[in-house]
Amino acid sequence: MKEQKFEFNYKVYDSIEELPEEQQWLLNEAREVTANAYAPYSHFQVGAVARMANGEIITGSNQENASFPVGLCAERVLLASASSVFPRIPVTTMAISYKGEGHLSDHPISPCGICRQSLQEYESRVNQPIQLILGGLTGPVYVIDSAKRLLPLAFTSEELR
Ligand code: THU
Repeated sequence: MKEQKFEFNYKVYDSIEELPEEQQWLLNEAREVTANAYAPYSHFQVGAVARMANGEIITGSNQENASFPVGLCAERVLLASASSVFPRIPVTTMAISYKGEGHLSDHPISPCGICRQSLQEYESRVNQPIQLILGGLTGPVYVIDSAKRLLPLAFTSEELR
């Protein structure tokens, strides 16, 4: 028997002002895009904005449904849109923000488990990492160099070969 360890480094900025200009811009856009969420059930609006490797911008926001499991997270709305509009083009960076009725938006949120699975498969099929910028409307910002860091021991398409 041996024990193995999983760890990763990520950057923590005290506020958006400390980020490089492009990352500031993306996070500000993600904050704006929260307004496009359809979240009448959770009242928790999530916005995601990505820079594609071809320079284009793609956005996503959570889209809920009266049949709750039908709802989609902002991150997967974005990835589906990216893959449909620009097939096979890598997503270079994705910024994610949120705002919620009765919630303070003063710290980063991380993608949910299902979105982590989708993000890692998008990365592996275009063979490029997706840098994540996570932040609320105010407060600290996390920058993670690759979404796959958030899903150790992932189940991948390799297993199905
Ligand atoms: N949600 C996202 O869009 N992204 C996340 O990373 C976490 C959760 C959405 C799903 C649902 O519409 C609402 O936030 C509350 O869970």
